[in-house]
Amino acid sequence: MSNSVAKTTKSRNYKVASIPADGFGPEVVSAAIEVVQKLAEISKTFTIEFQHIPWGTAYYKQHGKYVEDNVLEVLRRYNAILFGSVGATDVPDHISLWGLLLAIRGPLQLYANVRPVRTFPGTLSRLRDTKSGAPDIDWVLVRENTEGEYSGHGGRSHRGQKWEVATEVAIFTYVGIERIMRFAFSVAQARPKKLLTVVTKSNSMRNGMVLWDGVALEVSRDFPDVKWDKMLVDAMTVRMVNSPGSLDTIVGTNLHMDILSDLAAALAGSLGIALSSNLDPTRKNPSLFEPVHGSAFDITGKGVANPVATIWSTAEMLGWLGEGEAKDTLMQAIENVCNAGVLTADLGGTANTKEVTQAICEELEKLGTRK
Ligand SMILES: NC(=O)c1ccc[n+]([C@@H]2O[C@H](COP(=O)([O-])OP(=O)(O)OC[C@H]3O[C@@H](n4cnc5c(N)ncnc54)[C@H](O)[C@@H]3O)[C@@H](O)[C@H]2O)c1
Repeated sequence: MSNSVAKTTKSRNYKVASIPADGFGPEVVSAAIEVVQKLAEISKTFTIEFQHIPWGTAYYKQHGKYVEDNVLEVLRRYNAILFGSVGATDVPDHISLWGLLLAIRGPLQLYANVRPVRTFPGTLSRLRDTKSGAPDIDWVLVRENTEGEYSGHGGRSHRGQKWEVATEVAIFTYVGIERIMRFAFSVAQARPKKLLTVVTKSNSMRNGMVLWDGVALEVSRDFPDVKWDKMLVDAMTVRMVNSPGSLDTIVGTNLHMDILSDLAAALAGSLGIALSSNLDPTRKNPSLFEPVHGSAFDITGKGVANPVATIWSTAEMLGWLGEGEAKDTLMQAIENVCNAGVLTADLGGTANTKEVTQAICEELEKLGTRK
């Protein structure tokens, strides 16, 4: 199968696979598509076609599998992938997650999971209203996305017996660590603070995490202008709360960053603004963009979901595709709408999904006509 479409992003006509999947995924993905189409219409510098792919739990119930057998071949026909969320109340979570999202991230080698987290103007972070005068959060979390604790190695034996055994083996490879460290140091180097914190747990995990630390040190020598430090994951939770201004770019393992990124999102305001770019930095494969959150069973179908995480995902997607100006315009529109107080309930507002989406579209029109 040729990767030609994924490699050729200069045409300014993009084809994106849209996989809204489960829960309120379809609600937030359709909001994001509406916004991007409005942006394309106003900017007139690119076109973007979203093709719907019906993979998800309904597909699983019909076909006995979450994705088609040629999943990678199908996805390589696109410049990028926009994903909603996977997970349903009547299917075990490990079946749904491994059936869909983890069937894409690892096999496509989307090894760099980038999770920017910031407090938008007009919103209250959990920290901003403390007396400490803590600064607004503006971090980039980089998560190793293909190995570590989520390698899928392990097994169960003696099922159903009192002496049942289960193993979940964390796999750390030199190649896997080296490439994510190099990526994280580059991200840190490109930001004004040039500051990287490497999250570890090498006191109690004396093999994989010690290799992790060693490779970080080795890679750091190629980035002499980046100031970096190392932090045990437990202490890191405290630093994120008590000293947010001491952090900028943060790199960690698959599990550690899965947890820390939810904490970061909550500290910055809400899980509803947290996004995730799953990148193949070699650009051999299309990268996948998604909100961090899951299917949110409690608010599915109510029309109250915060669409910002998914809309911001599409801004990152546009940036990755080379549409930097469109990305900046979209981020400006999101900021302006937040600043104007058009917020969903998770951010303390009263607006619903449609109203926030509409407000961002209207803001794009205003920004477009000001040029
Ligand atoms: N990437 C993914 O697809 C992904 C990620 C996490 C969880 N999941 C799956 O999703 C299902 C539910 O998981 P969960 O409840 O632990 O996590 P969740 O992220 O779905 O929800 C956690 C809480 O945050 C709220 N929330 C999340 N996104 C929001 C938004 N955009 N606007 C407003 N509120 C929002 C929800 O209402 C809920 O109260 C499970 O099946 C789980 O496996 C999938």
